[in-house]
Amino acid sequence: MKVTFTNPAVPAKGIAVVFAAEGGKWSSTAATLDKKLGGALKRAAKAASFEGKKSQTMTVLAPAGANLERVLCVGVGKPAEITAESMTELGGTIFAALKGAGTAAVIHVDAIDKAKLSAADSAAALAYGAKLRAYKFEKYKSKAKQDPKPVIDSLAMHCVGAGAAKAMYAKLAKIADGIYFTRDLVSEPPNILYPVEFAARLKTQLTKLGVKVTVLGEAQMRKLGMGSLLSVGDGSSKESQMVVMEWNGLPASKRKNSKPISFIGKGVCFDTGGISIKPAAGMEDMKWDMGGAGVVSGLMMALAGRKAKCHVIGAVGLVENMPDGNATRPSDIVKSMSGQTIEILNTDAEGRLVLCDVLHYVNDKYKPEFMVDLATLTGAIIISLGSERAGMFSNDDKLAERIFAAGETIGEKVWRMPLGEAYDKDLDTDAADMRNIGSGRGAGSITAAQFLKRFVGETPWAHLDIAGVTWSKKDTAVVPRGGTSFGVRLLERFVADHYE
Ligand code: BES
Ligand code: MN
Ligand code: ZN
Repeated sequence: MKVTFTNPAVPAKGIAVVFAAEGGKWSSTAATLDKKLGGALKRAAKAASFEGKKSQTMTVLAPAGANLERVLCVGVGKPAEITAESMTELGGTIFAALKGAGTAAVIHVDAIDKAKLSAADSAAALAYGAKLRAYKFEKYKSKAKQDPKPVIDSLAMHCVGAGAAKAMYAKLAKIADGIYFTRDLVSEPPNILYPVEFAARLKTQLTKLGVKVTVLGEAQMRKLGMGSLLSVGDGSSKESQMVVMEWNGLPASKRKNSKPISFIGKGVCFDTGGISIKPAAGMEDMKWDMGGAGVVSGLMMALAGRKAKCHVIGAVGLVENMPDGNATRPSDIVKSMSGQTIEILNTDAEGRLVLCDVLHYVNDKYKPEFMVDLATLTGAIIISLGSERAGMFSNDDKLAERIFAAGETIGEKVWRMPLGEAYDKDLDTDAADMRNIGSGRGAGSITAAQFLKRFVGETPWAHLDIAGVTWSKKDTAVVPRGGTSFGVRLLERFVADHYE
């Protein structure tokens, strides 16, 4: 979708989008247009009970007295409650409301009385929201089978301060690139996106943005002693990979001795469960068991794309969990890179086996300021929190509060869950240093987090269990159904607020 920014003008032709605040206070462009149309907008509003409530929309078709095809009137709600985030959501709602109407539209953004956001800020946020909603993944659909309804592919934003709006949008568009990248990775089928292909895409897509991308294969990981991660791929014909991405956007004066911040992702390109095999129904969902790695990849693209002034490591463990003659058996014991041994009692609890080696590697090699990992780790977190919030576990209150706050601001919300010694004990076993599952069926997300905690030492760490929020079956304002990219906006915001 092409987005342009120009100075205000009276709507003249095609599709025009104008605004009204709650209580029926029309924007200046809307009022001018209404006059030009002989009061058609206000009459229609009365007939349709359009009152300018937040996200309320009303379409007026081919009004007499102008060359306009249609006018979409959009409610912004109470002016005092307008934020960049509410405007972003509204942009998504507008994009969806225009589906089928045509391929080009003009959004007329005026300063709203009593609102804190300027017209330029609003215009950038609206365009960003439209861009996020415009995502689609159709590469495997033949042209003939694609949705024939026209969608907006050219959006003209008219506002005062068009130059400032354009500059602001340019930055937001880089974040959108990262979000699109994550959604693409999560949407790809597992026969196409297996570990080596995933690694290759990171290399080509991120290297050109100035990210240093290092790919480690099985031989290198064996040398490092990553017996835990490697055990997960033993039953797969696809080679496991670890990819480390490094972005250093610090000015030269600050580079020396800078501790990087770090993000680690679970990248199980397909999870059959292994020998502890999953039931057939719903197994297709396990194509997005690489969601954590997808988020880390998109986050790196967003940060590098907008040239973030920070030093960041992104690391992903990429494997496929399959059953075959070489696959891990329940009761096998493996040795992790940290030296700790693990009795694998359920091969379907594989994500933690991947993450523990990547966490240890990043901690050991980069001594980061903190580590945040993301993983579609447990079905149990879906039972706890559904798809409204991701589960967060942390050994550091400050880190947890910062992530929580970023989530509240941009609408990718998390909820902190407990850790504790009693849960940790549940991982003890006679045969090895630990086992990879708890003893009973309770607190599955917590025991999984406790397992990871054994590999992070004293480093501030947060674990986000995103199993419930990575894929969505319904459209929301800025997230069309499918891969949500939950975590990219959250962590981009968290970095921008505290580490630049
Ligand atoms: N990838 C799954 C978790 C999952 C389930 C993600 C549903 C998304 C949707 C994970 O590897 C897994 O299988 N976890 C097991 C752990 C159990 C064996 C201790 C689970 O949640 O059942
Ligand atoms: Mn599993
Ligand atoms: Zn899994």
